[in-house]
Amino acid sequence: MPLCEMEPPTFALSSGHHPPHHRPVLCETVVELLAPQSGRVFVDCTLGLGGHALSLLPRLTPGRLIGLDADPHALDVARARLVEFAPHVHFVHANFRELPQVLSSLGVERVQGVLADLGMSSFQVEAPERGFSFLREGPLDMRMDPTQPRTAAEIVARWPERDLADLLANCGEERWARRIARRIAETRRRAPIRTTTDLAQLIAETVPGGGRGMRIHPATRTFQALRMAVNDEASSLDELLRVLPDVLAPGGRAAIITFHSLEDRAVKRAFQQGRRDGQYHLLTRKPMRPSEQELAENPRSRSAKVRAVERLA
Ligand SMILES: C[S@@+](CC[C@H](N)C(=O)[O-])C[C@H]1O[C@@H](n2cnc3c(N)ncnc32)[C@H](O)[C@@H]1O
Repeated sequence: MPLCEMEPPTFALSSGHHPPHHRPVLCETVVELLAPQSGRVFVDCTLGLGGHALSLLPRLTPGRLIGLDADPHALDVARARLVEFAPHVHFVHANFRELPQVLSSLGVERVQGVLADLGMSSFQVEAPERGFSFLREGPLDMRMDPTQPRTAAEIVARWPERDLADLLANCGEERWARRIARRIAETRRRAPIRTTTDLAQLIAETVPGGGRGMRIHPATRTFQALRMAVNDEASSLDELLRVLPDVLAPGGRAAIITFHSLEDRAVKRAFQQGRRDGQYHLLTRKPMRPSEQELAENPRSRSAKVRAVERLA
């Protein structure tokens, strides 16, 4: 059996338009690191479209996979895609910061594997109505969980200029944070900033040279920072890292895939602290990255890094 199915899913979906797709990143590496075995109980904290799950499940059954996602739409797609494994999967609409409560509601004390593949799926980014992409016109939403009240529009419309600047600097590592925040504050006094493309254009007009010559789109860092604030991403990750040692059974393994330096730093620190405290053995001294082949096949994987640990007894 190949470690990972590399073709994106192409089944029809309920909402019309394009079939949802998301190619799982670092999939073979994750399967090797987590070493799933028959009869084990694993958690996929970020089930998404079930790409990684599809590679873990044949190795776990008759064990179980507990799949969490904050996005109920992603769970619907995963449910359809993993239908042949349905008796072995729990689909749970929850933030992974609630992992201990989810496990206790299922009567599970500890698990042998935990995966978190942070950030968004291509399926979310490419849906204009979700507001994640500065390339597609849509409302400034950016909620992974649409049942949560706070949207990016609210932050852009209401946060004081200084808080906006701090957010862009701290969560976006945006060099032009103060300038962009000032421009947002000036613009919204005249008229509300309504769409993703309005905001992206405003940023392009604000950074020197319109962002020409930059490696990334000038709005990338602002959008990252807003998304992190909307979804409270840093504190969700910190909470997951805090509870992880209690959730993993001795010999159990965890792998976390990150997409930017703030996330990777948090994971690195927590894993190293766990090693010093005698809780973890590091399975990756340095983060593992996609191969040249994966980078060529899936450009979205370019900033991915995975770190993994094993829980000591
Ligand atoms: C990169 S995708 C995962 C893709 C998945 N591994 C696959 O192969 O299809 C990340 C998913 O995690 C979800 N997510 C992000 N942060 C979350 C959180 N704190 N709690 C639960 N789900 C989260 C997003 O809604 C998204 O569906």
